[in-house]
Amino acid sequence: MTTYRIAPSILSADFARLGEEVRNVVAAGADIIHFDVMDNHYVPNLTIGPLVCQAIRPHVQVPIDVHLMVKPVDRIIPDFAKAGANIITFHPEASEHIDRTLQLIRDNGCKAGLVFNPATPMHCLEHVMDKLDMILIMSVNPGFGGQSFIPEALKKIAIARRLIDESGRDIMLEVDGGIKADNIAAAAAAGADTFVAGSAIFGKPDYKAVIDAMRAQLAT
Ligand code: DX5
Ligand code: ZN
Repeated sequence: MTTYRIAPSILSADFARLGEEVRNVVAAGADIIHFDVMDNHYVPNLTIGPLVCQAIRPHVQVPIDVHLMVKPVDRIIPDFAKAGANIITFHPEASEHIDRTLQLIRDNGCKAGLVFNPATPMHCLEHVMDKLDMILIMSVNPGFGGQSFIPEALKKIAIARRLIDESGRDIMLEVDGGIKADNIAAAAAAGADTFVAGSAIFGKPDYKAVIDAMRAQLAT
């Protein structure tokens, strides 16, 4: 039986009430908090850093999944580990030495993952599977919440699923971008087990209703 996880992205939360927002979304059934870090360099937007991670850490017990959309990536990793991150993922094109960055994340006590944009090839996976705890497939181009799901991502999810199954390792397969109750089942069928959703959850008044609707799609 696959364990499915819903990972709300706080990018679409009310930043003026972030502690309350993360408590509410966990009470509504979130399994993970997805934390989008953008640097106005690797992506054309600027969001939140380790101080905000540290600020929300005492409010929730669930893992904080830090998605680094920053370049360079290495120097910020220890700060996020100290701020309470549990999972740290980065984009391979943002690191000069992918294996070294994965090891750095693990040495800092966090789970490590790689993120693939819609048009980024995934060849590097075959060389680093033994250092991975998560593969994240982007189903939008990174930088903004509220974009539409790119169906081509389903093929990449299926490729990643095959590689994970062949490896025999326990690696989460996350999908991020444009996920809603009406496409989550297709992402699960392709092999995803962890679903990021920002605007679909925080854009609605009743977080539990949305998360329940997503889980209902996963149960069928
Ligand atoms: C995009 C971010 C996503 C985004 C998802 O660069 O990585 O996590 O917040 O937002 P929605 O679910 O609105 O597409
Ligand atoms: Zn993200």
